Amino acid sequence: MTRFQAPSGTRDILPPESGRLEEVVARFARVVELAGYGLVVSPLFEDVGVFRRGMGESSEIVRKEMYEFEDKGGRLLALRPEGTAPVVRAFIEHQPPTVWKAWYVTPAFRYERPQAGRYRQHHQLGVEAIGSADPDLDVEVIALLAGFFSSLGLERVELRVSSMGDGACLPAYRTALRSYLAAHEGALCAEHAARYRENPLRVLDCKRPSCRQVREGAPRLRHALCEPCAAHLARVCAGLDALGIAYKEDDFLVRGFDYYTRTTFEFSSLALEAAQDAIGGGGRYDGLAELLGGRPTPGIGFASGIERLLLACDAEGVLPSRPSPVTVFVADVAGGSVARDLTHELRRAGIGCERAFDGRSLKAQLRLADRAGARLALIVGPEEAAAGAVTLRVLRGPQAGHQERLARSGLAEAVAAWLA
Ligand code: HAM
Repeated sequence: MTRFQAPSGTRDILPPESGRLEEVVARFARVVELAGYGLVVSPLFEDVGVFRRGMGESSEIVRKEMYEFEDKGGRLLALRPEGTAPVVRAFIEHQPPTVWKAWYVTPAFRYERPQAGRYRQHHQLGVEAIGSADPDLDVEVIALLAGFFSSLGLERVELRVSSMGDGACLPAYRTALRSYLAAHEGALCAEHAARYRENPLRVLDCKRPSCRQVREGAPRLRHALCEPCAAHLARVCAGLDALGIAYKEDDFLVRGFDYYTRTTFEFSSLALEAAQDAIGGGGRYDGLAELLGGRPTPGIGFASGIERLLLACDAEGVLPSRPSPVTVFVADVAGGSVARDLTHELRRAGIGCERAFDGRSLKAQLRLADRAGARLALIVGPEEAAAGAVTLRVLRGPQAGHQERLARSGLAEAVAAWLA
């Protein structure tokens, strides 16, 4: 019979790794909720138009990587490849008061070539702040992501900042870039020689040496920004300077979606391989609400990939696994009903505890207690059961090996006192 495996490019996240994932999410929630962001949970699939219009028909993800399907009612849907367009769709639908500050944790689906740090289902943490064009909001959002990385203990992190301009200056820049690329068409990689007319900005993002060389002499968007966009970028940079957040201006930072306007930014981990070193990125999307049928409403956000974060934490040796909350093991060799009742009682008292099933020997149960990381064992043999008592044995710490008899009544308090 066929033995099934997780689909290519996906992975099962099991304990203890899943415990680190929980910890990352908990730290993220703490950082962003302190700044007024609230959790938003929206469907994993949307009308395919949300992404096609939102991210742009010519973006790599829409062209090649979306998981699209028709449901049984004939609707064309897509699994979310990212979280921004769905949050903006929800904003338009529910019209919450602005500035609307949303955070999310979500799987994202992209049909990519699987490799370490690049998956077909990955997990993102992100925020979107919708309803203000104030550059201070850009600074807030970037500072939140920087603060989150520090809260994980990551230090080898580099921030690059740029601007995509707006409807006033970007079209002229694209025309100038297109003419420059036309003059160097022969030197571009095959893919971009064929496609640069449609979306010349993508060439700036190409990793192939031929395109990289052409890029060196290309016109720079920073020099082509209109006055309001240049002033916006200057305010953002001044804000980052004031908060002591180190960054580099990167003229060739091209993010993968067409919705970006003005500020864009990306954080890389210097501890990871260059091909998968992006641990978070985002930017403004002042035209996105309108593209999705809403009133013109500016917005900015970021997302960070959890798998990449865990790789970066491993590479820097930070964020150890959480200690297990199981501190007590009830080893019942008297028939099992004490284990049933006592674990229930201790858990209700807020004490993490585990037990064995299927009538194992005391030796086997104590082995399980050790594996569970328990500090105390509560041993119940026929003698203890008859006396309405348990034997407490200390498994770890300076008093390891110490044993004493405790009465069954008031046991939760006595155990809590031992653990304090
Ligand atoms: P993104 O840069 O495409 O941005 O993805 C955000 C993060 O997700 C990346 O920095 C990376 O850490 C992680 N990531 C992306 N693709 C993969 C993959 N195949 N495997 C593992 N990790 C991956 C966005 O998705 C935008 N929605 C961010 C944003 C929010 N912009 C404005 N608001």
